[in-house]
Amino acid sequence: MTAKILDGKAIAQQMRAELKAATAQLKAQGVTPGLAVLLVGDNPASRSYVAAKEKACAEAGMHSEEVRLPATATQEQILAVVQRFNLDPRVHGILVQLPLPDTAMEQAVIAMIDPAKDVDGFHPLSVGRMMLGLPTFLPCTPHGILHILKRSGIRTDGAQVVVVGRSNIVGRPLANLLSQKSEFGNATVTLCHTRTRDLAKHTLQADILIAAAGRACTITAEMVRAGAVVIDVGVNRVPDATAKAGYRLIGDVDYDAVKEKVAAITPVPGGVGPMTITMLLFNTLESARRAAARHAASGARGDWLARS
Ligand code: GUN
Repeated sequence: MTAKILDGKAIAQQMRAELKAATAQLKAQGVTPGLAVLLVGDNPASRSYVAAKEKACAEAGMHSEEVRLPATATQEQILAVVQRFNLDPRVHGILVQLPLPDTAMEQAVIAMIDPAKDVDGFHPLSVGRMMLGLPTFLPCTPHGILHILKRSGIRTDGAQVVVVGRSNIVGRPLANLLSQKSEFGNATVTLCHTRTRDLAKHTLQADILIAAAGRACTITAEMVRAGAVVIDVGVNRVPDATAKAGYRLIGDVDYDAVKEKVAAITPVPGGVGPMTITMLLFNTLESARRAAARHAASGARGDWLARS
């Protein structure tokens, strides 16, 4: 069997065209969606992710701005930048690129982000609302994966889903969303991690296998069931003297071997990655729409006060 390639790049392009049109409509009403990004330190992968996010904003017609701080920045300096973004009416979405050089600071920094601008969906309030199935900004990578499944006609209802990796950014929110009683959910979810005994015993049960372990070749062909759907969230750099950058990107799945066995698979690059950025644009547009609606409502109140 040769797998159907789930082309995240093509789905992302289609969604970005829709987002660009919706952005133009909002701009015609006087509101330009704006994303503010904070990058601390000079992790090369983080730098390239941030550059890609800003390029995508520009292509969609959104405003973006970036603040860079050195790896030695104190928590107070980082919080001061976040607070400035919180108060800036041109900023509808705030993204603090993770990991921070000092990961111990991360929760305090995330908690400082105004939940109304939390387009990453990482604030405890956003996470709690997501867990409860209430409207909120969904974290971008899980949300992007749900859209890949939906737009590829892959049903999660009643499916056995195995997620490998329990990060706050991908594995745990994804397991939660897929198990909810919702359009994108209704799956029976197993969440595996570094302490899971006999990982293959679990992965072989999966109708849909999601690899988000952050380690190349975590999933080999022997670990997948024939006919399964495989979503590869991994982005691992491996040295490659023939590549211009001196490295190439591979996922967490042994792609060449696994694609011969499964029904469908996302490639790396060109699978989940472009969808993550697309959902960031989606959330930023949504935040700007809500801000515009609040502004219109307060304007209407102002008119009423002026008339009375
Ligand atoms: N680092 C890796 N993925 C992400 C993400 O989706 N958002 C942020 N802020 N940092 C990340």
